[in-house]
Amino acid sequence: MKTYDIVLIAGDGIGPEITVAVKAILAAAGAQIRWIERKAGIAALADGQDVLPEETLEAIRQYKVALKGPCTTPVGKGFTSVNVQLRQKLQLYAAVRPVRNLPGVQARFENVDIVIVRENTEGLYSGVENEVTPGVVMSMKVATELACRRIALWAFRYATQRRRRKISVFHKANIMKMTDGLFIRCAQDIHRVDYPNIEYQELIIDAGCMKLVQDPSQFDILLLENLYGDVVSDLCAGLVGGLGLVPGANIGEHEAVFEAVHGSAPDIAGKGIANPLALLMSAVMMLNHLSDQAGDDELKAVAEKIKNAYNRALAEGQKTRDLGGSLNTDQFAEQLIKRLA
Ligand code: NAI
Repeated sequence: MKTYDIVLIAGDGIGPEITVAVKAILAAAGAQIRWIERKAGIAALADGQDVLPEETLEAIRQYKVALKGPCTTPVGKGFTSVNVQLRQKLQLYAAVRPVRNLPGVQARFENVDIVIVRENTEGLYSGVENEVTPGVVMSMKVATELACRRIALWAFRYATQRRRRKISVFHKANIMKMTDGLFIRCAQDIHRVDYPNIEYQELIIDAGCMKLVQDPSQFDILLLENLYGDVVSDLCAGLVGGLGLVPGANIGEHEAVFEAVHGSAPDIAGKGIANPLALLMSAVMMLNHLSDQAGDDELKAVAEKIKNAYNRALAEGQKTRDLGGSLNTDQFAEQLIKRLA
């Protein structure tokens, strides 16, 4: 089997704990990976480096693919978020987050199968904030035609490749007429000109959220600008059982960084009880991405084997505490490894 060089950023909080578990599961499943370990976040600061060291960025540029644990950005200390910087500097413009029910996991709804496509490089995440005068501060929402078109194009292309039926755009163009207005105009254009056969729908985000929590089965692909995508991702995680279950990929023209939707969970960090599944599912997305690029069917089989193992483990009641089970991180990984036949 081919060996792949992959950058690994363990991250902060629960990051190192879940990363160890995921590495063990990938190795047991037979994935041949040489991990190139780099730091970001608090771990990098503690090492006397920048929150996002240049050598970490360079490694991702060189090896093209990274698996990343969550990173903590210190609040109110003048640091720009590690995640925002990483996505902007590498132009990882498409955040893709599949949200599905899993066997044996009790959730508010059944039959949820939604893919969130979030614009990852601009909007209110542009980080342009200033104090106009004492007591008055401002944050700038940036939308460019280039970024709005490329994310819409990405979503429609993805829908076609994956045989999905419908794209729903959540927006607030009734209020943010210029920024969200541009976002929906670009999506409308791409739908009309290039992908008229994919069903297309626009919803004002407040009404869209209400419909999501009433009946998520009416949605297929959600296309959102940056901040809405962030918020709606967690909302959707809640529909299927929580943040421990939602993986993600940040994809650009050249590089791809795979990471769970959840953060560094400081409330449970160091206790060894975090659910490694969302990071593991992100790693499965990564293996599929690599196998598609390299035409490597053996690697695809490894991804499938891991997926079957976690589905079986969950169906047989092997769950971490966030899902109502009693296993800690390592015990869950062990149960999963036993089912890698
Ligand atoms: P969070 O996602 O870390 O935690 C929210 C809640 O979900 C907590 O109660 C936590 O214990 C639980 N949770 C999250 N992941 C879990 C897992 N795998 N297993 C079991 N329970 C889990 O969100 P929060 O608390 O808002 O953010 C904490 C830190 O993470 C912040 O510094 C934030 O900036 C950072 N963050 C980093 C992200 C990234 O690196 N991609 C994404 C989101 C937040």
